Amino acid sequence: TGQDKEMAVFSVPSYACQRRTTLDNQNTTLTDALSLLAENAELSDEDGRGVAFRRAAAVLKALPKPVTDMAQLRGLPCLGEHSLRVIRDILENGMSSEVESTKQSERYKALKVLTGIFGVGAKTADRWIREGIHTLHQLRDSGHTLNRAQQAGVFLHYDDLNRPVSKADADIIGETVGKAVDAVLPGAQVTLIGGFRRGKLTGHDVDFLITHPEEGREEGLMPKVVSWLESRGFLLYQKTTRNSYLECKDGPARPPSNIDRFERCLSIFKLANEETGGTTQLETLTENGTEPAGHRPWRAVRVDLVVSPVSQFAFALLGWTGSKLFERELRRWAGYEKAMSLSSHALYDNKQSRYLRATSEEEIFAHLGLEYIPPSERNA
Ligand code: GTP
Ligand code: MN
Ligand code: MN
Repeated sequence: TGQDKEMAVFSVPSYACQRRTTLDNQNTTLTDALSLLAENAELSDEDGRGVAFRRAAAVLKALPKPVTDMAQLRGLPCLGEHSLRVIRDILENGMSSEVESTKQSERYKALKVLTGIFGVGAKTADRWIREGIHTLHQLRDSGHTLNRAQQAGVFLHYDDLNRPVSKADADIIGETVGKAVDAVLPGAQVTLIGGFRRGKLTGHDVDFLITHPEEGREEGLMPKVVSWLESRGFLLYQKTTRNSYLECKDGPARPPSNIDRFERCLSIFKLANEETGGTTQLETLTENGTEPAGHRPWRAVRVDLVVSPVSQFAFALLGWTGSKLFERELRRWAGYEKAMSLSSHALYDNKQSRYLRATSEEEIFAHLGLEYIPPSERNA
């Protein structure tokens, strides 16, 4: 028809790691809808459905123009029947009844509130919902014993931790982490990873990767950094985990020499704040000794610290820069297309039965037979 020549026709490779996905998303209405269904599936322990919606959303994020007609989607990968139905509803009716009813459902709303608590995942939230707990007040009154992370998450810092972190906040925290690392191990290097490395302007946390150019010097670094920060009052909460290779589910077992060298610290930083924040929705919950946000000169910010030996740095950098879907697709590509196993520690070639070394992300992409995609284009 005459319309056809006006209509952009899209072509997209099937793995997200083969595509350049910037933050300039031309289809936010559609991708927000699919992301909400993905989130709802993930929170309901339906990971398969969740990934399907995430992949569909990622294809739309990679399109250079807004989709206006279903015909434009012909031949595109990863768009299943269900995702196509949601897209059609939105293009034809301006909304998807499934998305709207999910958003309004008591279950989804309760899942959002409860998993908004630091330290509470889908399983715990689901158990509480089945007990009739839908709100923070109901949780407080339920008499449930919460672990240390959950107590920090629900009673102390709920509002702060559910407010986006800005790049400016990330940079201030980066300076503090840099000072700590420099003080305990001169020459060690701190790199901003996660969403901020991909150019995002806000995030749910700030992620840093720490290494030292001399292999082995990074050993034992995390506890020292944490003590330095703790003794100066920068930490509201921290939990350091020593990563053993048994805990590393998503890749090959690492060589024995590398066991126990990869450490992670989940923390909550106390960030000095010049401006006063907005009013908290939870002032009634902060009666256990903490001042509500807006009345105090600081806010709580989630910070992830990871220490990697320099021999694994490129893999850690690639693995912790994200996005989550981009990472998942890289591992899927490696496994299905190249018979390789990729993790945040190493790349193993199953055909050659050997690890492939790399000192940069570019080398890892090259090993995988992929065109190099810079962090700002990994926003799948
Ligand atoms: P926001 O923080 O929401 O802005 O986005 P983000 O992309 O920074 O997400 P997040 O901080 O959750 O994770 C950053 C990257 O670290 C993602 O690529 C994750 O896949 C990766 N990541 C998170 N947790 C783990 C983990 O336990 N092990 C490994 N290997 N990677 C992880
Ligand atoms: Mn992050
Ligand atoms: Mn993180």
